[in-house]
Amino acid sequence: MTNHEPEGVAADIVADPAAALSPVSRTALAVARVRAFETAQPEPLFTDPYAQVFIEASGIPMDVAGPASPLAKRLVAQGILRTRHYDEQLMAAGVDQVVLLAAGLDARAFRLPWPEGTRVFELDLPPILAFKDRVLAEHGARPHCERIVLPLDLVDPDWPNRLRAAGFDAARPSAWLAEGLLVYLDADQAAGLLGAVGELAAPGSILMLEQGRDVSGTPREDGLTALTDLWRGGLGPGTADWLAVHGWQVEFAGLEDLAAGYGREMPPAVGPSTAGFLRARRIARPVPRPESQGNDSSSVRSG
Ligand SMILES: C[S@@+](CC[C@H](N)C(=O)[O-])C[C@H]1O[C@@H](n2cnc3c(N)ncnc32)[C@H](O)[C@@H]1O
Repeated sequence: MTNHEPEGVAADIVADPAAALSPVSRTALAVARVRAFETAQPEPLFTDPYAQVFIEASGIPMDVAGPASPLAKRLVAQGILRTRHYDEQLMAAGVDQVVLLAAGLDARAFRLPWPEGTRVFELDLPPILAFKDRVLAEHGARPHCERIVLPLDLVDPDWPNRLRAAGFDAARPSAWLAEGLLVYLDADQAAGLLGAVGELAAPGSILMLEQGRDVSGTPREDGLTALTDLWRGGLGPGTADWLAVHGWQVEFAGLEDLAAGYGREMPPAVGPSTAGFLRARRIARPVPRPESQGNDSSSVRSG
């Protein structure tokens, strides 16, 4: 296991873990609550033994009653399906380099049976990764892969260099997961991030993420505004189209269909709801245009 120790945040994280996290990083605790809730059900779609551990270490009490409002019910059901769906997609990806963009408290490195030789890169802001690694170390958690932790800001254009310097090989196919991330970015930031992923993803690579939504009409429900007020929408409902014109072949899996496949029923959609998840396969890499046509690298070619 290679751990790049986050600097300068460790003391705050020990003193008051939740307060040391930025509002957007606290959303990782909300996802952990969903995973702890599902793990405690009689027939869970997955088990994440670390989710409850993170919640306890955060000092924020867990509401064991489950979601109450219509939007909360929908978001929790979506979070559960999303975790199971991406678990399956990652296990089927058939590559040995996996990048978890905004890994948060995702414990897949520790709970999935990765093939021998798999390297999992976890990228997120420093305080949440410091919290995560402290809690995992206290519980003696051991990853089932080579785990490489990179504390960084995914809006900083230097992050691809950090990933390469940590051993990521852009010449070979990779799998990318952007779970619960793009909605917290604005459209330019989301396009910049996905553009950078495209440059690092060799043909045959896989990218998994949510189909975006128009967040402008999101109802402001009690208990959810700490989450929903942070939503910027990313590329919104145009996410799949953006990928398709930037060198990706995109497949869509609808929430209702996925739920039915697992014998579950989705609570009704409330306002602008995420319709499902995208699986994009890299078919082209951007190539620099000749000098005479300018220097932007927006064109793509196959293979
Ligand atoms: C809803 S959580 C999802 C976490 C994780 N993907 C999961 O599903 O468990 C959103 C995550 O995005 C991270 N994040 C948001 N903006 C980021 C940025 N600019 N750079 C790196 N991470 C960011 C937060 O720190 C947080 O961990």
